[in-house]
Amino acid sequence: MKDLVIIGTGGMAREIYGAIKASNDLAPQYEVQGFVDMEMTGLDVIDGLKVIYSESELAQLDKPLAVVIGLADCIKRASIAKQLRDTVNLSFPSIIHPSAIYSPELVNIGQGCFVAAGVVMSPGVDLEAFALVNILASLAHDVQVGSYSVINPHANISGAVNLGKRVLIGASAVVHQGLKLADDSTLGMGAVLTRNTVENASYFGNPARKIMENS
Ligand SMILES: CC(C)(COP(=O)(O)OP(=O)(O)OC[C@H]1O[C@@H](n2cnc3c(N)ncnc32)[C@H](O)[C@@H]1OP(=O)(O)O)[C@@H](O)C(=O)NCCC(=O)NCCS
Repeated sequence: MKDLVIIGTGGMAREIYGAIKASNDLAPQYEVQGFVDMEMTGLDVIDGLKVIYSESELAQLDKPLAVVIGLADCIKRASIAKQLRDTVNLSFPSIIHPSAIYSPELVNIGQGCFVAAGVVMSPGVDLEAFALVNILASLAHDVQVGSYSVINPHANISGAVNLGKRVLIGASAVVHQGLKLADDSTLGMGAVLTRNTVENASYFGNPARKIMENS
């Protein structure tokens, strides 16, 4: 069993804990040591698991430790990954809920990703490092997901779509096949995207329109 900590204390961190428990029930792999509280919530225990370590203590640990980023904010995912990535003795496994449907030989999953319960991924899907795909999302053939991007529940990404880095796809959004979503663009919940997006802008509605620049 490998020691592992989950960074974060909110809903996403707890989802990841649930996924690890479900995987461990099938084949024990990780001893989860605790949630890492980076926002000083003051909580001692969450879902029966202790809240431990400050960020600096984590960086100084001298034993091998697996780390999962349990935050659904693209920018925070990127910044924490950057801070910790070169720390000796830390590793960043991908956590995949056992109910996810995909062929491991036909899908590429980089380090530090999370794939939640019920996600469907078709052949040729490629998740770059630290991407996150939330419950029941579907990614059709050849979808590319850039680093730190987050796909929220029930999103429906059609074939050969290319998401850049730090792209947020809102819950239940639909993306037409073959589109490119530029780095740091956001698609709101329930949107139907029919055109490419430009960098650093938010879109929503049906058909989705650019509503604002992201700050
Ligand atoms: C698109 C989004 C990122 C915009 O967030 P924001 O910048 O904080 O925008 P606000 O919430 O301040 O909303 C601004 C306006 O846009 C509207 N709006 C926001 N999101 C919208 C959406 N997806 N579709 C239609 N209108 C939307 C709001 O009603 C508000 O209108 P108003 O000014 O007339 O009241 C956000 O609304 C969104 O969809 N996030 C994803 C949420 C999600 O997937 N949740 C699941 C978590 S697991």
